Amino acid sequence: MIRVHPDLDDNELLRLFERGIARQWTDEVIDWSDADALPGTVREALGAVMTPVYLGEQTAMIGVSTVLPMMLQRGQHEAALYLSTMGLDEARHFKNLHRLYHVLAVQPVAGRRLPEMWRYHARLLQGRDPVHWVWGILISDLFAKQFYGGFWERFPDTLVGRLARRTLQDEARHQAFSDRYLTTILPTVDADGRQRLLVLRDDLFRVMEALGERLRGPMETLQWAPQDFLQTLWDDTETWVARLGLTRKQSESSESGNG
Ligand SMILES: [Fe+2]
Ligand SMILES: [Fe+2]
Repeated sequence: MIRVHPDLDDNELLRLFERGIARQWTDEVIDWSDADALPGTVREALGAVMTPVYLGEQTAMIGVSTVLPMMLQRGQHEAALYLSTMGLDEARHFKNLHRLYHVLAVQPVAGRRLPEMWRYHARLLQGRDPVHWVWGILISDLFAKQFYGGFWERFPDTLVGRLARRTLQDEARHQAFSDRYLTTILPTVDADGRQRLLVLRDDLFRVMEALGERLRGPMETLQWAPQDFLQTLWDDTETWVARLGLTRKQSESSESGNG
């Protein structure tokens, strides 16, 4: 329950909170001047491929603002403090992509042509507890990391690469938060709860597979095979599954388990 004068003693989360404040930035730090250097076909393809990321940044805003009150209600004040900075990060990412579309003079794909994008959004929104949310947000952050990482790799000396690189620094902080939060909480989650997280992972990957097929044309224009994208993302997610011990029995990861 929310308290007037709670203890604030998770120093790792508090450090992430301070870092989240100190590393805020505005779009003025980006040089937006060379959009014309990219050929029209590449800009069109970028506009299409960025579409689920663009919606994803808004999904992340919803995620943060949904889970923040849940954490305060549970007395997880340090996590709530951190999430306040993450909300600003996601808002900035959304706003930056909005500007990027304008500067590149291209449009996102119409929502009705990417129904999986809405399915992904809806699946995350089914979350009823903070662990489900943080896990879903982590998978979405890994998804964003693949995209921004790929943009940086392909267009390092352009506006797109510079923006992607700067955004990745925020995403790294988000992963550090998910790591700390889930590592602390998961030992108290029973076998069914863990299984639900794996089901969420599988559901989201099924949706992303279909999404990759829809975007195959523009992705290939950017020399990007959807199956390679998904394989890397899957490997990354599995590293987290192993690291968090999600497939381990609860008795193996916690002496005081209740499963
Ligand atoms: Fe983001
Ligand atoms: Fe994020």
